Amino acid sequence: PEEIRVYEFAEKINKPVGEVIKELFSLGVMFTKNDFLDKDSIEILADTFGINVTTVNDQESFDYVKAYDEEGEASEQNLVERAPVITIMGHVDHGKTSLLDYIRSAKVAAGEAGGITQHVGAYMVEKNGRNITFIDTPGHEAFTEMRSRGAKVTDIVIVVVAADDGVKPQTKEAVEHAKAAGVPIIIAVNKMDKESANPDLVKAQLAELGITPIDWGGEHEFVPVSAKTGMGIEDLLETILLQADVLELKADPSRDVKATVIESSLEKGRGPVATVVVQDGTMRVGDIVVAGIAFGKVKALLNDRGIAVKEALPGEPVVVLGLSEVPGAGETLINVKSDKIAREYAKKKAEYLRQKELSKSTKVSLDELSDMI
Ligand code: GTP
Ligand code: MG
Repeated sequence: PEEIRVYEFAEKINKPVGEVIKELFSLGVMFTKNDFLDKDSIEILADTFGINVTTVNDQESFDYVKAYDEEGEASEQNLVERAPVITIMGHVDHGKTSLLDYIRSAKVAAGEAGGITQHVGAYMVEKNGRNITFIDTPGHEAFTEMRSRGAKVTDIVIVVVAADDGVKPQTKEAVEHAKAAGVPIIIAVNKMDKESANPDLVKAQLAELGITPIDWGGEHEFVPVSAKTGMGIEDLLETILLQADVLELKADPSRDVKATVIESSLEKGRGPVATVVVQDGTMRVGDIVVAGIAFGKVKALLNDRGIAVKEALPGEPVVVLGLSEVPGAGETLINVKSDKIAREYAKKKAEYLRQKELSKSTKVSLDELSDMI
């Protein structure tokens, strides 16, 4: 149900209601003055009458991200290779976290000081002198939102399928997220150490979903692995790097930072904490940033092992301290020129979210209509 009636719309834009109805009629739709307008009609009317409307539900990018995008193009000569961002998805208990643990302990342990463990959903490992960023996601069906978000910030999705269990509901869901995001999918056929492992069944089941293995004439890599024995993990990492090469992932580290919030929380003694993955530019301690309703001067940056670092490069995950609030997961964080701008953007965002909340069932906010010509 819409909440904006024809006469309310007419009032907002200072036009006789008859004129609005006439305009609608000329578009081939009959409305009385008490009818609710649908989103499409409002957009067409706005266009006709030369006014601006904000479609609240199409929330994707907020002003400040646009401002960042418009500010400066990454200059060609500054582009350098960046770490690929890999999201691990799959059905509950199919071994996503175990795989990551194995990858991390094999690759990270050498540099690990004092065994500091900090839980973040994003990790970086090195392979052949190159960094790879991994984002772990939960497989439980309740976390659709987190999986969908993961797929949005990623370059490649790895769908983990337990060879002894086959394709399950969240395997399918993961495939759908990856397809929707338009990113390459690599299948890790896990638990190959198990007696009951049946990789051919996994292949057949996935082929049915349009994910056909290369050795069956398709275009998807299926890598048999075991998070328990470590079998196939080197292969998996190599496959990732080959895929990343094809994507030619580049970024400009000389730009202001743009990053995506992966997870966030309020921590005792630390305040708001956000794990972000840098998409472009370089994130530095001291940067003035805004991320949704949160803003602030970056007080400290911690890598995935909880160690303080001065900066984070494109593709890298980092924990940010110093924000005024807990930013929403999925928000874009950017570096701005001044504290004043940061505050202003955050305030606008908060106001925007408040409006959205108010207009819940309403698809379009008429507040912007006062901007009429
Ligand atoms: P969620 O995050 O809850 O979705 O689960 P997950 O996919 O991260 O699975 P997790 O890594 O927690 O592993 C689930 C169980 O499977 C654990 O008991 C692991 O020890 C076991 N497991 C994971 N990988 C393997 C494997 O390769 N072989 C064997 N035998 N067991 C495995
Ligand atoms: Mg897990």
